[in-house]
Amino acid sequence: DQTTARAAGQILAWYEAMGVDAAVQDEPVDWLQRGAKAPGADFAPTTRQSPAAPSTPPAAGRAPSPAPSPGPRAPRRLTGTPAPAAGDDARATAEKAKSLADLGTALSQYEGCGLKATAKNLCFYRGAEQARLMIVGEAPGRDEDLQGLPFVGRAGQLLDRMLAAIGLDRTSVYIINTLPWRPPGNRTPTPAEHAVCMPFVERHVELVNPEMLVLLGGVSAKQMLRTDTGIMRLRGKWASVRAGDKEFPALPTLHPAYLLRQPAQKRLAWRDLLSLKAKLEG
Ligand code: URA
Repeated sequence: DQTTARAAGQILAWYEAMGVDAAVQDEPVDWLQRGAKAPGADFAPTTRQSPAAPSTPPAAGRAPSPAPSPGPRAPRRLTGTPAPAAGDDARATAEKAKSLADLGTALSQYEGCGLKATAKNLCFYRGAEQARLMIVGEAPGRDEDLQGLPFVGRAGQLLDRMLAAIGLDRTSVYIINTLPWRPPGNRTPTPAEHAVCMPFVERHVELVNPEMLVLLGGVSAKQMLRTDTGIMRLRGKWASVRAGDKEFPALPTLHPAYLLRQPAQKRLAWRDLLSLKAKLEG
């Protein structure tokens, strides 16, 4: 009836305001009935590499079937394929790709990353294949997941303005993320997710073969430069990214999503953009 529909609408609006904007399973789980177990313990793509994982595939559909009963049990895998050592099969698969089209196909068929089960679309890349500059962000957000393209939401609009400030537009850059699928609810990506996705990113860099890279934010810088140093220490200093047997000059800088939250830091990003412009002008 009307009251129920209105109440349901209000609950949905509240969920969305809290950042709960995607369903990761077909059926809800009543976490209050699940005792002391932390929400997420049953549905954790991060645990999917466990050798204890059962090999039975979930019921048809993108998401796994609902948890059958409370209580401890082995983590569930999202697909029926055997668990590979993190990154091994990804590297072999990525290396087989001889072109960007091959790589896109390989990624769209790849089942080794749990994020694929909850994402709506693969976000492969956007921009120009012949670009001199390749930009690497962190991971798709909600808008990117819906459109299947990196940096199309608010952070992407700020990125466009940052590029425009030094005379670049989307036809002169090639944009990817360290993960091609959205982590549900924009949660922090796990090391296991990065381990399987980074071989594809490195192959992507090799195939595009840009003159230089910009690494947006701490996650991108950490993954691409294989370092634990924070972005505030890395930003603005040219470094080198290894992909295949080549080294690419790379400039870590602040992520536009961070700049939206901390606009005063735009002055640091501006310095980095000037350094980028100078390098592009050779
Ligand atoms: N943030 C990112 O790091 N990548 C996107 O594609 C969008 C937002």
